[in-house]
Amino acid sequence: MISDMKETEVPQKQRSQKESPKKGAPSIVTELPGPNARAVIDADETVTSPSLTRAYPFAPARGEGSVVVDVDGNAFLDFNAGIAVCATGHCHPAVVDAITRQASQLIHYSASDFYLPIYGELCRRLAGLAPFAGDARVFLTNSGTEAVEGAIKLARSYTGRDHVITFLGSFHGRSYGGVSASASRAKYRSPFGPLLPGIVHAPYADLFGSPLRDRPEVAVDEYIENVVFRRLVSPDEVAAIMVEPVLGEGGYIVPPAAWIRRLREICDEHGILLIADEVQCGVGRTGAMWAIEHFDVEPDVLISAKGIASGMPLGAIVSRAAVTKWPAGTHGSTFGGNPVCCAAALATIDLVQSELMENARVVGGTLIDGLHLLAERFPQIREVRGLGLMIGVELEAPELADAVEQACFERGLLVLRAGDATVRISPPLVLTEEQARTGVELFGEACATLPATT
Ligand SMILES: Cc1ncc(COP(=O)(O)O)c(C=O)c1O
Repeated sequence: MISDMKETEVPQKQRSQKESPKKGAPSIVTELPGPNARAVIDADETVTSPSLTRAYPFAPARGEGSVVVDVDGNAFLDFNAGIAVCATGHCHPAVVDAITRQASQLIHYSASDFYLPIYGELCRRLAGLAPFAGDARVFLTNSGTEAVEGAIKLARSYTGRDHVITFLGSFHGRSYGGVSASASRAKYRSPFGPLLPGIVHAPYADLFGSPLRDRPEVAVDEYIENVVFRRLVSPDEVAAIMVEPVLGEGGYIVPPAAWIRRLREICDEHGILLIADEVQCGVGRTGAMWAIEHFDVEPDVLISAKGIASGMPLGAIVSRAAVTKWPAGTHGSTFGGNPVCCAAALATIDLVQSELMENARVVGGTLIDGLHLLAERFPQIREVRGLGLMIGVELEAPELADAVEQACFERGLLVLRAGDATVRISPPLVLTEEQARTGVELFGEACATLPATT
């Protein structure tokens, strides 16, 4: 049992770092994986589903701010945030407080059947933050993929149309609607067919090297008007276009504003709903509450999850009241909007609005500047891109991205692959300037281990 484990003895000079991980991270005090992590891994591998992949042998035990300590007492600087989830850092006292208080009063009551006060409070709060003018309605879920499912159902039921356009490279989850809408890796889809019918994939703004990359609005017309609408499906059969305003799992790609604006125009021209999937890029991560705000575009439906409750399972569908017309009883969820998760979300939103969104913008700038300098030193880095604390470093080849990920881990920095050859950087939004500089230094050390390119 992890909780019974004694962390490996550490030298005296490292003891204070172990006790207060925030100050001293990173601090690697055993070989990696350490003995306790090896025991966890051995036990895990006999019982957990083989469908799970693990990027490297990391077994977290506790965390504070942007630092996570593993079961051997090794402190890591966390540039993953539990995969863009722990927005307010690990165990932020205000979030822990909110969870504890709510758990001592009411742990569950289903808001699909009764009036749960904190559910309504969070919905009101999210409606007030909706990135579109006019009234909003909110439905709470347990996860991102469940919110994606709900958004597809909402769009189909409102429009009476059954097709949804999504994008090559995008990721929308693992349940049937989510995985059908996704097109980031064939392996997520191929064993599970037949998938949900009615999904059409168009190229994302990066357009895989197409010359249209520099003419984004023309690209939308070329692929959606001239290919999808002429050859595959008529626009009056399309319920929604669903887009990640910044591509997440597919490689942390920021599209040109003109591309997203043209999507909005096409939706308006044909009575199609625009759904922004902000599961990964929302809740302050890009330096704005919602990533789509950077492009001056208003979606009809916004999907949130991941960072919204700092690690408690919660998602949300925030939609224009005018399109939220599904009748009573048509959609619900037993656990969605559980009161403890709602409490965590309210505390998270307070923190993100009051300080963390701005911190993401400022500290994200420091990180991007530092990584750009590394790109000048290391030709294996093809591109550094991002907004706020959502940053992708694209390497020359997938093996190089794997090697950087591994070398970062060995140095006490947690990062994760995305897309084909990109290392994603999505730290907690509480990251300090000093931690950003430390992270860049470690990332540079990791790049220095790469073979030279020819
Ligand atoms: C953009 C996007 N949508 C949906 C999902 C699915 O969310 P969940 O894993 O909470 O089901 C993810 C998860 O990575 C995501 O990045």
